[in-house]
Amino acid sequence: MPFDLFDKTQNKILDSGTYDDFKKNLARSNCDKCPLSTSRHRIVVDRGNPRAKVLMIGEAPGENEDLQGKAFVGRAGQLLDTLMKDIGFDTNLESLIINVVKCRPPENRAPKPAEVLACNPFLKKQIELVAPKFIILLGAVALKHIIPGKKEFSMANTTGKFFEHPDFPGIRFMVLYHPAYILRDPRKKPVMIEHLKRFKDFRDRLLATAS
Ligand code: URA
Repeated sequence: MPFDLFDKTQNKILDSGTYDDFKKNLARSNCDKCPLSTSRHRIVVDRGNPRAKVLMIGEAPGENEDLQGKAFVGRAGQLLDTLMKDIGFDTNLESLIINVVKCRPPENRAPKPAEVLACNPFLKKQIELVAPKFIILLGAVALKHIIPGKKEFSMANTTGKFFEHPDFPGIRFMVLYHPAYILRDPRKKPVMIEHLKRFKDFRDRLLATAS
């Protein structure tokens, strides 16, 4: 974990021994490692169950998330919850939902590489403390920033497939369309539902054989 000798705020957060401490320390930190700190209302750490086996990673908080301090509580999050509920998956109980960056970018623009870099130690610490068996990457931004070397790709060829990555041993990944994209282009909804079902079947089978 990248400790910075002079960054006491970051070190206190990264020193957290449990997820609950990490969340409390980050949410209360008033972190100013990147310019997003000047426009945000709240640091958005997550939503859901940190003891779940499924971690979902989105891009960045939007307006509702920034005001409520919870990830994916706006229209995109509500759509995600509904689609998951329809296949028998409770997002609040069976997953933890987080973002690549924890503060809202102005006008909901994509986070800049320097912002992602500044927030990366917190993202890594979340993955380490949650120790998920599955990671769902919601959208191209999450994929690009989490899987190194993924620069040129088409979402149509990437979504809905399982893969592993040597940087994250023992974790199964799947990339899905971002729910905000489905709101903009509802024709993609049936494909997204098919991918969600595929994910749930795979997870259920794997957990059943592991127990
Ligand atoms: N979009 C995201 O990527 N994350 C949120 O928390 C909300 C919308």
